[in-house]
Amino acid sequence: MSKKLKVVALLAGVLLTNGTYAQAEENFGKWLINFQRTKEVKPVTDKQYLKECGDCHFAYQPGLLPARSWEKLLTADALKNHFGDNAELDRDTLQAIHDYAVENAADKSFYKRSRKIALATAEGEAPLRIIEVRYIKRKHQDIPEKMVKGNQDVKSLSHCNKCHTQADKGVFDEDTVSIPNYPDWDD
Ligand code: HEC
Ligand code: HEC
Repeated sequence: MSKKLKVVALLAGVLLTNGTYAQAEENFGKWLINFQRTKEVKPVTDKQYLKECGDCHFAYQPGLLPARSWEKLLTADALKNHFGDNAELDRDTLQAIHDYAVENAADKSFYKRSRKIALATAEGEAPLRIIEVRYIKRKHQDIPEKMVKGNQDVKSLSHCNKCHTQADKGVFDEDTVSIPNYPDWDD
């Protein structure tokens, strides 16, 4: 046995006899699972948000925009004319949804993609659209128009879940993308 291996074996022996090795392994497993999850965007867990904000479109995770953006989007006045639609809410519901969005906003999240979105929005900048965030824009700039606007099953880049098959889980990894009518989009 090499000297290095002996040290490792010795160390493992000490850990095993202490019964802490199994514990350490279990903790590592948990850490790894959490680490994998936090690579993406935190999924929406709030039922009210899912219901009220998932009616007309995919319920965008609060971690896709900075708090400044949610502050602008989620006021009684703003919701009366929400991208041309009326998305008014009663006062209590609005307050709850506003607070949920702000607390889970990109700049308050430790999820990796949210961190990137937060970094991609300059101080004072409050984009009203996720697709205007520089990081998101850059990721989609090479997709031909015909696959988005010209694609009857997508129509707009705003419809994340048409192409991102795990968008509702907060997963946007390119390996999970499938563009309707263009199965070979990445050739
Ligand atoms: C009555 C329908 C309706 C409801 C309810 C609604 N929205 Fe929207 N929302 C729209 C429309 C229409 C657009 C523009 C979509 C487009 O351009 O394709 C939009 C766009 C957005 C966008 C910008 C997406 C992008 O990057 O282009 C965000 C963010 C958003 N909505 C958040 C919310 C939130 C949060 C709620 C819940 C309070 C909500 N919406 C409820 C209709 C609605
Ligand atoms: C027309 C289909 C389509 C729509 C709609 C769409 N995306 Fe994408 N998205 C893609 C493709 C394709 C890529 C991979 C681009 C590449 O790597 O060349 C991508 C990449 C991404 C990435 C980077 C993934 C990575 O692995 O680095 C993020 C984040 C993302 N999209 C978020 C969104 C969000 C949020 C929305 C909605 C506001 C959205 N996308 C709407 C097709 C789409």
